[in-house]
Amino acid sequence: MKDIIFDNKDKMAMLGLGTWKSDRGLVYNAVRRAIEVGYRHIDCAAVYGNEAEIGEAFADAFSAGDVKREELWVTSKLWNTAHKKNAVVPALQKTLSDLRLDYVDLYLMHWPIAMKEGAGFPSKASDFYTLEEVPLEETWEAMLDTKERNLIRHIGVSNFNSSNLEVLGRLAFPEMNQVEMHPFLPQQKLVDYCKAKGINMTAYSPLGSMDRPARIKADNEPLLLEQPVIEKIAEAHDATPAQVLISWSMHRGIAVIPKSTNEKRIGENLEAAKLQLSDQELEHINGIQSGHRFIDGSIWVNNGSPYSYEDLWEGQS
Ligand code: A2P
Repeated sequence: MKDIIFDNKDKMAMLGLGTWKSDRGLVYNAVRRAIEVGYRHIDCAAVYGNEAEIGEAFADAFSAGDVKREELWVTSKLWNTAHKKNAVVPALQKTLSDLRLDYVDLYLMHWPIAMKEGAGFPSKASDFYTLEEVPLEETWEAMLDTKERNLIRHIGVSNFNSSNLEVLGRLAFPEMNQVEMHPFLPQQKLVDYCKAKGINMTAYSPLGSMDRPARIKADNEPLLLEQPVIEKIAEAHDATPAQVLISWSMHRGIAVIPKSTNEKRIGENLEAAKLQLSDQELEHINGIQSGHRFIDGSIWVNNGSPYSYEDLWEGQS
């Protein structure tokens, strides 16, 4: 398994298990089976609403001797309603208590969007704080503090464009930026920027987030997993389209966190780490770029929001 290597030489397995949309009642089994078959990187977030069940799976996996804490890489994320400086540590402590861990390996600011405590998801203007009211630097400074206290090993962000990364960089550049990435949306400009600044990257929704209603492109193009180019390459390697998509990300040196709660697909996705794609195949895959986002961020810019798409996305994918 390839690793992402951090500045202090800590290693994060490039392929991890995503848990967004992993329902309670299913996620315990998904995490246990994933650890059993060899996953050593689990991606979580407070807002996914399933960290307590994942914590149960970790505790049982440790006591069964399936894995040691220090062999497992756990990422979690700070939700938008905990951006004020005094809210950061309590939010992290809740996550640690749910996950039944003393520390997380990586803690990310989930979005560059600040919301009022208790707002959950926004439905009106008053659910938001503006960036003047709660600047990104305020949240970032509080997160840097949690690192000093050894509650987290590494610190980063998710859904940040280069302008927002520059703002944080005045204090310290994040070690990770987790964003939506797949062949429709390779984000090469952002990848180049992050590389230049020494920021590692993780791709979410690498399979096209199949379980979301908005997954189908407006022009009714085939789904990511059903793109003829992907299917053809999969066939040539006796692999599956999902494995080709996962492998494409790993060939770019980008960590990737496909979500599954299905035992067979959890195993299938891990096997993708063994797939070798040729330069020509990678080039063919790059040809399906369309700029399409499955997570369009509309929830953060509607309902009287003070934020705009320019606050979120890089100018060009
Ligand atoms: P399931 O959990 O039933 O396996 P993404 O990570 O891009 O959000 O994609 C997750 C979606 O893709 C889920 O609907 C998941 O369903 C599905 N999925 C996960 N692995 C595979 C696979 N190997 N083949 C097809 N679909 C998959």
